[in-house]
Amino acid sequence: MPTAPPESQPLTLQWRTESDTARFAAQLAALPALANAFVALRGDLGAGKTTLVRHLLRALGVTGRIKSPTYAVVEPYTTGKHSIWHFDFYRFSDPREWEDAGFRDIFTSPGLKLAEWPQNAQKCLPDADLEIDIQVEDDENRRVTMRAATPKGHTLLSALALACMNT
Ligand SMILES: Nc1ncnc2c1ncn2[C@@H]1O[C@H](COP(=O)(O)OP(=O)(O)OP(=O)(O)O)[C@@H](O)[C@H]1O
Ligand SMILES: [Mg+2]
Repeated sequence: MPTAPPESQPLTLQWRTESDTARFAAQLAALPALANAFVALRGDLGAGKTTLVRHLLRALGVTGRIKSPTYAVVEPYTTGKHSIWHFDFYRFSDPREWEDAGFRDIFTSPGLKLAEWPQNAQKCLPDADLEIDIQVEDDENRRVTMRAATPKGHTLLSALALACMNT
């Protein structure tokens, strides 16, 4: 059972199966403040970052194919309500690409930005509103630590703590 974090305290959750990950994604998708947030996703290779994003995009109403953006760096999505950019900076190393590919413009535009491997672009990226760190425990079991760094992030984190306590 998670406990509600005071301001600035991380929220720690346990996802025992991928269904827990999907349930969390649905809770996150339901929060209005997500629409224009920047969410950074941390965790080792295979931790479950893309899997969380897939469940989140489905919960937000994305119906088409959802590709991992490892090669393209970013995949854009739109729904009736949302503009969404899914970044994977695993292969990102040249800050010139930040300007040339128009990533700066994306981060100053409204919409939801999700980024895997943010540490590879940390000199370019703004502070994430919410940081989700996924650690593999065993099999499908994941220990997840969430931190907020902005007022929007705190709004999301408080709402998530409440939602998770009620499930
Ligand atoms: N509770 C869980 N949450 C998320 N994924 C899970 C869970 N349990 C098992 N998995 C599996 O773990 C794998 C996670 O792979 P995924 O591509 O999402 O990792 P990733 O963190 O994006 O890795 P990479 O850094 O290579 O992009 C998937 O095969 C997924 O089905
Ligand atoms: Mg991935």
